[in-house]
Order: sequence, then C-alpha cells, then structure tokens
Amino acid sequence: MRAIRSRVLHWPTDQWHQPEYFEDGILLIDAGKVLDLGPAARFIAAGFDVSTCEHYPTRLVLPGFIDAHLHFPQVDVMASFGAQLLDWLQDYTFPAEARYSDLVFAEAAAESFLDLQLRHGTTSGFAFCSSHRNSVEALFQAAERRQLRMVAGKVLMDQNAPQAILDTAESGARDSEDLIKTWHGRGRLGYALTPRFSGTSSKAQLEKTGQLAQQYPTVWLQTHLSENLAEIAWIKSVHPEYRDYLHTYEAHGLVPKGSLFGHCIHLTESETKRLADAGGVAVFCPSSNLFLGSGLMPFEALQAAGVELAIASDIGGGTSLSMLKTLADAYKVCQLRHYVLHPFEAFYRITRGNARATALDAFIGDFRVGQEADFVMIDPACVPLVARRVKDAKDLQGELFIYMTLGDEQLIVETSILGEPAYRASNP
Ligand code: GUN
Ligand code: ZN
Repeated sequence: MRAIRSRVLHWPTDQWHQPEYFEDGILLIDAGKVLDLGPAARFIAAGFDVSTCEHYPTRLVLPGFIDAHLHFPQVDVMASFGAQLLDWLQDYTFPAEARYSDLVFAEAAAESFLDLQLRHGTTSGFAFCSSHRNSVEALFQAAERRQLRMVAGKVLMDQNAPQAILDTAESGARDSEDLIKTWHGRGRLGYALTPRFSGTSSKAQLEKTGQLAQQYPTVWLQTHLSENLAEIAWIKSVHPEYRDYLHTYEAHGLVPKGSLFGHCIHLTESETKRLADAGGVAVFCPSSNLFLGSGLMPFEALQAAGVELAIASDIGGGTSLSMLKTLADAYKVCQLRHYVLHPFEAFYRITRGNARATALDAFIGDFRVGQEADFVMIDPACVPLVARRVKDAKDLQGELFIYMTLGDEQLIVETSILGEPAYRASNP
C-alpha cells in the first residue's frame, strides 16, 4: 500500500477540457492499482491516518506519459545532421539499425533506452524495433523485468534497404508470428505488427502481414504514412499499381480499426476520409516533423475530419524522449496551422488521449479506481526558470503551459510503475 498526498491531476473521461484536479489530494495505491483518489479532506473526515502519507504539497502527480510512436534502436541516431527523411534513413538510420542483429548489443541498448524513457516520465511506449528478432527479444525482456506496459514489434522490410537489415516475406511473417506467440499478452506486454512503410515492403510482404493482422486481431498494427513529399513520390514509383499511399495498406487489409500511422502530414482529402472511416489513428510527431523538415501536420483538420489522433516523440527523427518537449513542438506546429493547442488538451493527449487512441485506456492513462498505477511526479523547483515563471501562473492551465513550453525531463522527480518508483531524481 502506498499513500501519496500531493497535487493530483488526471482526465477521468475523454473530455480534455474537463480534468479532475485535487489541490490537496490523496492517491492510494494497492497491489499496483489505484485503490482510491480524492481530496485529502474526504480521507481525513473518514478517519484516514494521513501521517502514513508521503506528503509533497508543491509537486504535481500525473498519469505516466504514453509515447505512441518511437524507434528504440534510433536513440543512436538522434541529432544526425543535415538530411531529410529518405537520405536520413539511408545515411544514418539503416546503418545504426544493422547493429541490432547482435543480441548482446541490443540487450544493453534496451536497458539504456528504458532507463532513459523512465527518466523522461514515459511509462508506456509503442516501439518499432529493428528487423532483427534479437532487438525485439531484448526490448521485451527488459520491459518485462521492469513490469512496463509496452507494445513493440519487429520491423518488416524486405526491399529497398541494405541487406543487413532486410528480412524476406517468409522470414518476416514467421518471426512476427513466433514473437506474437511468445510475447503478446504476456504480463503487460503487447505485440504490434510493424511494416516499416510500404516502400520497404514487397507486395508479398504486405499481403502476408495483412493475413497476420486478420489471424491475430488483438495484435496492434503500426507503420508510417504520408510523412514527406519526396517519400510520397517514391512510394508511388515503388508501388505504381495503387491509387495512393494509403491504398498500399488498404489493398492488403492493413488499415484495421485502431491501426497506428506515424505522421499523416500530406494526406489527400480522399485518404483523410478513408482513414477516418476505417478508424485508423494518425500519430502526430511534431519534433520529428520539424527536425526532418517533413511538414506541418494538420492536427485540427484531421480531428475535424473524424480521424483519431495520438501524439509521439518518433525518436530518433524526434529530438527528445520528453513528451513535455514534444508538446512544446506540437504547440508551435499548431500555431503555424492557426490552431491553439490548449494545455489541457496537450496533457490529456499524452496521458488518457494516447491510452484511448491505442486502446489501452482500460489499463492506463488516468487514475480511475482499478487503473494500473503508473505515474509521474513533477516538481517545478527543479528548474529555476520554471520555478520563477510558475509563481506567476494564474491557474492550472497557465501552470501546465509553462511546464510544456519551458519544461523537460529535469522537472520529473519520480516515475513510478505499478506504484513503485522506477526512477527517482538524485537531487530533487
Ligand atoms: N519512414 C520509414 N521509416 C522511418 C523511420 O525510421 N523514421 C521516420 N520518421 N519515418 C520513417
Ligand atoms: Zn517513425
């Protein structure tokens, strides 16, 4: 049992403008789950012994952040200079991913990656591994030891890349199926079929992946779509028989409800409508989109068209593992599209919103009784500029906007998994 008395904020419903906030709240955790949450006054009136609480009156407790799209092997290419998507893949990313065939290397990288995620306040992620089984085994084993709710998949790619990172339609399907059988639904882990993008998959591979999606309907599906204009033109030349980029997936049953499509920046009107009708999710990766010069995702327009949205770091195209920094970039991209991203919407998105978009909202993303108790604790005193600015914040909304605009991982003093600290800052 753990009792935390602090400022507590979460979104118990899908109405982002209706957060539930306790200025002096108590979060009770038992056996890794939320047992109760409410104002301290209610607990005191009921005779609860508040001296048993850890008391952090100036901190803010939030559900753990969820990163809906990232590449675990690409920590090694973050901050690679001077290229847009297709060159960046060839020059930096593909060579870096080749190293993940080595299990020992992949295991060390997985430990380091998960340490980093927790330090940044991210408690769940949707990870692209490399095309090598070893990279997936390494990540799942490390995540299992830490009891993380994590979804990951072996990248499927059988053409248009160096031999060292290619599979074949047959081996890719076989490895994916073996990994599903071993890892999907084991503890808190889940599997995502992960065709990299249709340019690096043959028709045969897309076809086999669609069959697996049908055979294993509880498995997730994640890929990339419409990120960069040169990429879109290249996809057309690789797969000329399809109507457009989305059709390369549709034609093979690769747009089931809840499938996750990174980027979706340059969708046509028809693609947007078809994606909305199918219940596909467009994953907004603002940091990556700015860094790689990919474009400004029309976040509001997609939402208005009925497309489900998620938000993600997309490291290593993205330049930070911090979902707070991701929100800072999201705000700026939305500004350039004349949409004002409200801080309540922003924090909803990286908690319950992403849980809902990825169909994990029955487990994580908020503090309703019975939910798994993954949380982060923010202490504004950790960053002098934030501490100074937050003193002038008029209200909760203003405070959150300062955290997402000026904050980063330095604000995170604790990240807990199932109620137990998995990261604690050394000098909070
Ligand atoms: N499209 C295909 N592969 C990738 C990748 O690794 N990163 C990004 N940002 N886009 C991709
Ligand atoms: Zn990506």
